[in-house]
Amino acid sequence: MSQHVVRTVADVMSAPVVTALPSESISDVSARMRDNGVGSVVVVDGARPIGILTERDLVRFGAEVASGAATKVSEWMTADPDCAGPSEGVQHAFAALADHGYRHIPVVEDDNLVGIVSMRDLMRVAQIQPVVHPGTIEAPPGLEGVIVAETSVGDVRGLEGFYHYRQYDAVELAAKRRLEDVWHLLFDGRLPSDTERAAFVAEIKPLRRIPESVASVLPSIAAASANVMEGLRTAISLVAASEGFQPTLDIPADERRTNALQLCAVTPTLIMALYRLKADDQPIEPHDDLGYGANYLWMLTGEEPDPDIGRAVEQYQVTTIDHGFNASTFTARVIVSTGADVGAAVVGGIGALSGPLHGGAPSRALDLLDAIGSPDNARAYLVDAVTRGEKIMGFGHRVYKTDDPRSVFLRSVAERIGAEKIAFAKSVEQTVVDVLAELKPGRNLYANVEFYAGVVMEHCGLPRELFTPTFASSRVIGWSANLLEQAADNRIIRPSAKYVGPLPPEPVPDVE
Ligand SMILES: CC(C)(COP(=O)(O)OP(=O)(O)OC[C@H]1O[C@@H](n2cnc3c(N)ncnc32)[C@H](O)[C@@H]1OP(=O)(O)O)[C@@H](O)C(=O)NCCC(=O)NCCS
Repeated sequence: MSQHVVRTVADVMSAPVVTALPSESISDVSARMRDNGVGSVVVVDGARPIGILTERDLVRFGAEVASGAATKVSEWMTADPDCAGPSEGVQHAFAALADHGYRHIPVVEDDNLVGIVSMRDLMRVAQIQPVVHPGTIEAPPGLEGVIVAETSVGDVRGLEGFYHYRQYDAVELAAKRRLEDVWHLLFDGRLPSDTERAAFVAEIKPLRRIPESVASVLPSIAAASANVMEGLRTAISLVAASEGFQPTLDIPADERRTNALQLCAVTPTLIMALYRLKADDQPIEPHDDLGYGANYLWMLTGEEPDPDIGRAVEQYQVTTIDHGFNASTFTARVIVSTGADVGAAVVGGIGALSGPLHGGAPSRALDLLDAIGSPDNARAYLVDAVTRGEKIMGFGHRVYKTDDPRSVFLRSVAERIGAEKIAFAKSVEQTVVDVLAELKPGRNLYANVEFYAGVVMEHCGLPRELFTPTFASSRVIGWSANLLEQAADNRIIRPSAKYVGPLPPEPVPDVE
């Protein structure tokens, strides 16, 4: 990030300077001042300033002396005037000279006159120099390591390769619990009992249906969108509007929760409906008796999937529900901190997630495997890519400086279900880690969640276009838990920026 420019005397001085010789007559010099429209001349010996003669001196002179032609400048000038250096900061020069009552200050470099600056200009600029407000903290680029909120939703411990949802290890939850249990944990603060689970699932079921007013325009949304993420963004906005979501600032906590629950429940249905409509197929209604992941695949194909495959997708979805203060979660919290409705915040989250540096990478990670083609090509391909400054998709993480626990878990899921690409992916993973250690030493770059996510999803029958939407299908629960927390104890999130552009105020040019 560039540093703020300090405005110097050289930026505001005038040059060249109207000068006079000490031996010249007052009347000649006064005529020169008038002709040049200046209020002072600097008296020089060669290039060295030795005095200054100002209008004030001329007024004094006029009152006391009859003839200017016979009087020399040297008799009326102020000798050895205080000067400023051109590289001196404006504020510094102003502070040093303000008490003396000067109007014009010669600017001198190495004993040579290089300009003149008026105290009025110095003062004007010095007063509008940006000031550093007390308490201002300059955060590092990308806000790395900056704590901006308190949360009890979960956290990521990058050095340990560990993340958790509330008090539980997220990977253990993915291994042991169904998605609705984790959803309940995030929304209501605890894992459900059997009765609570039944009530929660019953509450969610009707909310999975797409509201009629949205379903009727979904074919047009699908046709007008380049991909499912774009369509989802539009459709979620429409669900919130058609259901009359109100600003979070104006509604009680239970209404905020119901709004969020509806968007989480309807998101998977919208994703699959949009995908099918784009392929000219009819959407498939949610299945009442299937588990979360199995229903997700059902809405894609209309067939009940193998339970292991349904479970694998659901485990991927559990691992991606939440992950600390990632970019999309932060976005959703910022939006809700303004008091906006839950729909606006989820739309913002989808937008942030769609970028390749965040959620847009899993299909690119598989594209990488395709481009490499065979293990023999891996090293040469990767060395070339990294040398050209490319990022290897599915590797590196802002927080993890060791193995990403999600990638370790998804690798085991891919092995369990016998994913076609698993052996190749493992060998490429090792080569990438080695090449990055060699060419980017000390950066600690390892596979992130996206690398094996693609391998798992592809084996489960999800087309590449659905990888990022599938990430969104579960991350919406994390955004929601976070935005409900934000709304419950809110202060608008409004940081500051350091202005580094051209210094104001430049006069606005008149229209020609
Ligand atoms: C995830 C990611 C955005 C984190 O970004 P970040 O914390 O800002 O890290 P930086 O981009 O500053 O990376 C630090 C250094 O490691 C390098 N690096 C990071 N990820 C890399 C990758 N995947 N391939 C090659 N080099 C990588 C950077 O070039 C940088 O090198 P430098 O010090 O020579 O400039 C970044 O690692 C990345 O772009 N990964 C690929 C995309 C991806 O997998 N996204 C999904 C994230 S879940």
